[in-house]
Amino acid sequence: MKKTLKRIWQWIDDRSGLSEMLHPLLQHKVPRGLKWNYVFGSATLFCFILQIVTGSALALMYQPSSDKAFASLQYITQQAVLGRWLRGIHYFGASAMMLLAGIHMLRVYLTAAYKYPREMSWVSGIILLLLTTVMGFTGQLLRWDDNGVWSAVVAAEQMGRVPLIGPSLARLLMGGDTLGGHTLSRFYTYHVFMVPGLLILFLGFHLWLVVRNGISEPPKAGRPVDPKTYRTWYRNALRSEGIAFWPYVAWRDVVFSVAVLLLVVLLAAVAGPPPLRKPPDPSIVYTQPQPDWYLLWIYALFALMPPEVESYAMFFGPLIALFLLFALPFLSNKGERSPLKRPWAVAGSIAVIVLIGALLLAGSRAGWSPAFKQRTLPPAVAASAGPDVKAGKVLFEQKGCLYCHRIGDKGGIVGPDLTHAGSRLSTTEMHIRILNGSTGMPAYGRLLRHREMQQLIAFLQSRQ
Ligand code: HEC
Repeated sequence: MKKTLKRIWQWIDDRSGLSEMLHPLLQHKVPRGLKWNYVFGSATLFCFILQIVTGSALALMYQPSSDKAFASLQYITQQAVLGRWLRGIHYFGASAMMLLAGIHMLRVYLTAAYKYPREMSWVSGIILLLLTTVMGFTGQLLRWDDNGVWSAVVAAEQMGRVPLIGPSLARLLMGGDTLGGHTLSRFYTYHVFMVPGLLILFLGFHLWLVVRNGISEPPKAGRPVDPKTYRTWYRNALRSEGIAFWPYVAWRDVVFSVAVLLLVVLLAAVAGPPPLRKPPDPSIVYTQPQPDWYLLWIYALFALMPPEVESYAMFFGPLIALFLLFALPFLSNKGERSPLKRPWAVAGSIAVIVLIGALLLAGSRAGWSPAFKQRTLPPAVAASAGPDVKAGKVLFEQKGCLYCHRIGDKGGIVGPDLTHAGSRLSTTEMHIRILNGSTGMPAYGRLLRHREMQQLIAFLQSRQ
């Protein structure tokens, strides 16, 4: 038996050259001293493979058409064998992949592993991070419930504000001027064919570079990178004290990836897939999306920006940030690598982490999504007032104004505080605002009768 297996393997190996191909990958020498902080890249790769497997399985049952998508997901979640697990693992796998890619990037930045000769690894890594973000964004719409759809609408609207090319960009993204079945097919194509294809391409390149240039050695203070001598130095260091990647280094990668897998499966079991809320309904005016957490901070950033700077920030902000990210290894490709000698890099990293954390916190607070639980104002608000003001108060609660506006210490903070609306706004101003709505505020023109509008305004005018 053993002999037969061996002969089969020899036949395959002789004809295909498999071991010739794998041997250098597994046996290549790597620097000594690679510890647990070197496991995040391989774990990101592992998550990507997990996403391909679970994604393919989901695609077998998912129907990318606007009238069937929501129902097919309900079927997957409630009836299909292991369907709930698949969705849960795919969701938490995506979260893990984003998180691990971020940590991997942070590790590379802090240890300055992007310096000579690994500039291209950094650049391809940024492209991989962007593509991964696009995967998260497009996947969210495929859920085709109000949350996923409105998150895409908000993003498209923001994109539409980019000077000059904005409208064309938004149309390209959505597959037309409006959101509908065509948008869904388009996002499905992005999510299942185009972006994964690009991911695999750049990932192959990224890994090839790791093999070609070698894994960066752990940095040491007082040992700067000099492009003139680095390669010779690295080759000699590997020759004298390098160790084989498999199994002396790779075992940590394996252990960590298995731990990630267990955690993802555990979360999928305990927390389950993201709930399918309800199918998108354009007539529900107060819907506000709550994008998935790894996108939430980007939405929160734009939501918190004052509207005047927004269209410029929308355009130049990401452009400058991307430019700086891509330029980093070209601006500094030599010198010290140790974080001990690069205090600004450490300070900068901490600042970015704190900023993203604060934005996530802000995004998950009521300010971003309306306070749907807020149903009534205390009776004292209109206690000693006339009938119109009293009726206006009830309308203010019933029509959902309270979800977004504050009166006293009750209500949401999506829109301006209306506690003292009467002393700030004239009757006409109020009429115009409520009738037409604006960014973030639905137009109530067709949803209120003339009498109701008068009562609402009477109520607001009484807020002095
Ligand atoms: C989905 C959230 C949302 C709901 C629901 C909502 N609003 Fe607004 N509202 C806003 C936002 C956001 C603004 C600010 C718009 C801007 O600055 O362009 C605003 C602005 C206003 C203003 C102008 C305030 C000012 O200081 O300029 C008034 C008045 C107003 N809303 C009244 C109402 C009333 C009355 C209702 C209920 C019939 C209501 N809103 C429902 C989000 C909302």
